[in-house]
Amino acid sequence: QHGLSRRNMLLAGGALGAFGAIGLASPASARSLWTWSPKASIAGSGAGIDPEWVWDEQADPVIAGVMKRGEVAKVNDLLAQWKRNDQPLPDGLPADLRAFMEDARKLPSWADTGKLDRGSKFSKTKGIYVGALYGLGSGLMSTAIPRESRAVYYSKGGADMKDRIAKTAKLGYDIGDLDAYKPEGSMVVTAVKTRMVHAAVRHLLPQSPAWTQVSGGQKIPISQADILVTWHSLATFVMRKLKDWGVRISAADADAYLHVWQVSAAMLGVQDEYIPKTWDAANAQSKQVLDPILAHTKEGEALTDVLLGIVAELDLGLTRPLISAFSRYTLGGRVGDMIGLSKEPILEPLVAGAWPLLVAFREGLIPVPGVPAVMWTLEEAIRRFVLLFLAEGQPIAINLPDMNRPE
Ligand code: HEM
Repeated sequence: QHGLSRRNMLLAGGALGAFGAIGLASPASARSLWTWSPKASIAGSGAGIDPEWVWDEQADPVIAGVMKRGEVAKVNDLLAQWKRNDQPLPDGLPADLRAFMEDARKLPSWADTGKLDRGSKFSKTKGIYVGALYGLGSGLMSTAIPRESRAVYYSKGGADMKDRIAKTAKLGYDIGDLDAYKPEGSMVVTAVKTRMVHAAVRHLLPQSPAWTQVSGGQKIPISQADILVTWHSLATFVMRKLKDWGVRISAADADAYLHVWQVSAAMLGVQDEYIPKTWDAANAQSKQVLDPILAHTKEGEALTDVLLGIVAELDLGLTRPLISAFSRYTLGGRVGDMIGLSKEPILEPLVAGAWPLLVAFREGLIPVPGVPAVMWTLEEAIRRFVLLFLAEGQPIAINLPDMNRPE
């Protein structure tokens, strides 16, 4: 080995991160070289440092301090009272945390309320498709993202996976709320809390022997690169599939939907120089960071099982084979195999042939679809899945974890 741990490289200063390629020589990493240019970002310029070596300089030390001082329970009690975007922070927060949160709750200077509004309306209009894609697409894909699966599995929430697994997909859905970033909405609160949870995980997981064994040499989880991976599994994936399916999307709507996700990335602590400015830039970045890392893991397989179990438990008349066929159609066979979805030689071609017809009918593009009856069942089940599972009025209750998954 070259004797340079990632943490040492980090300590050696940001500039050295530019040589992140050295770390990639290790076989544990399937990542490709970071060549995505900051010119394609919101910032328009930047040092071009591989986000693999960047975490969250503002949140991480503050949350580590809260944890070391034993203030997690007290802070969680106070956080529970903070719900609306326009609500003042509760009294009694540690001063350093309050200062961080006051700063973190500000929307980026480039946020455009008109576009945010349009983006939410678009998500609502296409709600069933978008919901199906977050829940059965992005949600399942996350189980083929090794670092995310392992981080989730070995952190505290991993012990109650059913509760945990739903949350990223649900957050994706909440981002599309009509009032998400308005004063009366709650996405600012959700995003700031999530940013704090991620910082807590960065403090805790390195202390987990089980995580350390499978982290592939990564010393601190949830780098900015990792967040971008998940971001693409949500935003970029959903936009691509909507287009594949023939959903009609105006250029202004596509742009507005991107904007909602750009703002959300910033609120989760991603730096402007990594946030794609256009869909072309996003697709290029996704190809670089997401496509090469998808893989089967034992932890991901366990999470897949839980997620499919939730859908089955809702008992919407969706049989496991039909879910498998739809998810395989949505995610593609390669990812389907990775996460262990059953092969459905009869249902899969049926879904592949009929779903676009059903979409075309719903979009008013064809008068009478020659759609087999099972597809209407599927559509109705998806509608109920979205309503029951994603749209249930409550925003996600988010707490700082105080420990890892018990061994
Ligand atoms: C927690 C969303 C990226 C790992 C959370 C929570 C949300 C969320 C809403 C809070 C859930 C709770 O309180 O239980 C997101 C979004 C992401 C993202 C929208 C990117 C756009 C990542 C990445 C990783 C990760 C890249 C790991 C590589 C975790 C873990 C927790 C967490 C381990 C804590 C689980 C627990 O112990 O409760 N995330 N996340 N997240 N996230 Fe993320």
